[in-house]
Amino acid sequence: MLSLLRDPLGLDPLELDGDYLVNRAAQRRYPIIESIPVLLEPAGLGPQNRKFQRMYDWMSYGYDFAMKVGGVFSGGKLAKLRRLLATKLALKQGDRCLYTSIGTGADVPYLAEQVPLESVELVGLDLSLNMLRRCKAKIRPYENTSLLVQANAERLPFADRTFDVVFHVGGINFFDQPAVAVREMVRVARAGALILIADETKVVVEKNYQRSPFTRAYFKDAPTDFSPRDWVPPGVCNPVYEEVWKGKGYILTFNVPVS
Ligand SMILES: C[S@@+](CC[C@H](N)C(=O)[O-])C[C@H]1O[C@@H](n2cnc3c(N)ncnc32)[C@H](O)[C@@H]1O
Repeated sequence: MLSLLRDPLGLDPLELDGDYLVNRAAQRRYPIIESIPVLLEPAGLGPQNRKFQRMYDWMSYGYDFAMKVGGVFSGGKLAKLRRLLATKLALKQGDRCLYTSIGTGADVPYLAEQVPLESVELVGLDLSLNMLRRCKAKIRPYENTSLLVQANAERLPFADRTFDVVFHVGGINFFDQPAVAVREMVRVARAGALILIADETKVVVEKNYQRSPFTRAYFKDAPTDFSPRDWVPPGVCNPVYEEVWKGKGYILTFNVPVS
């Protein structure tokens, strides 16, 4: 699956050279750390991305535990929501799919309920290496058909029209360039592919993240006037925006045009 990867700067193919992926023509080398290719150019990260990369690197230690506790307090609603997202993806055997901001892989068990994951090619991308380190355990049973990569979702290291399904859960609200990230999702998706983007609404940012003592330092200047519908490029098919979880979450879906 390493052959799917491209140099994020210019999208040239890369060659494997020991523990590096190499773009010989441009003389650029990208390390592979603990079997995770690091296709990042730190200078290309905006201030929000750098801030949230740091935040998730330290949050990774408690992320799964926090998800478990949150799941219990939600009375099973969090699991129901993740299951709904997995159902909407309608994954089929043989699909190649990209999950941008896969985090620790909390959605992986829900995807596995929908389709045998050994029968799909799953690429999980995230900006935080520590989140990906935790994700490795969840995808280990599917390691022959999956790949984790550290990269910026605003600059996807894949050729055009590579994936049958492209999705994102959580994170995009605070990217430096969310509309660019959505355009990138469209670029790497094949004709007709489903794109799904889900995150929390601004209600959660204002009422929870900007007030909680654990998160307010990171979120105090975060934008709360975002409008996910505005990130969708013109010309896509079947755009649907719905709010779920009593207005705390949104799900945006659309298809890439066939021609
Ligand atoms: C709230 S977590 C969601 C993780 C996972 N999708 C889930 O539902 O549990 C947000 C994730 O977005 C990642 N992230 C933030 N900015 C990113 C960027 N520019 N590119 C890729 N991932 C990013 C973070 O590292 C973090 O893992």
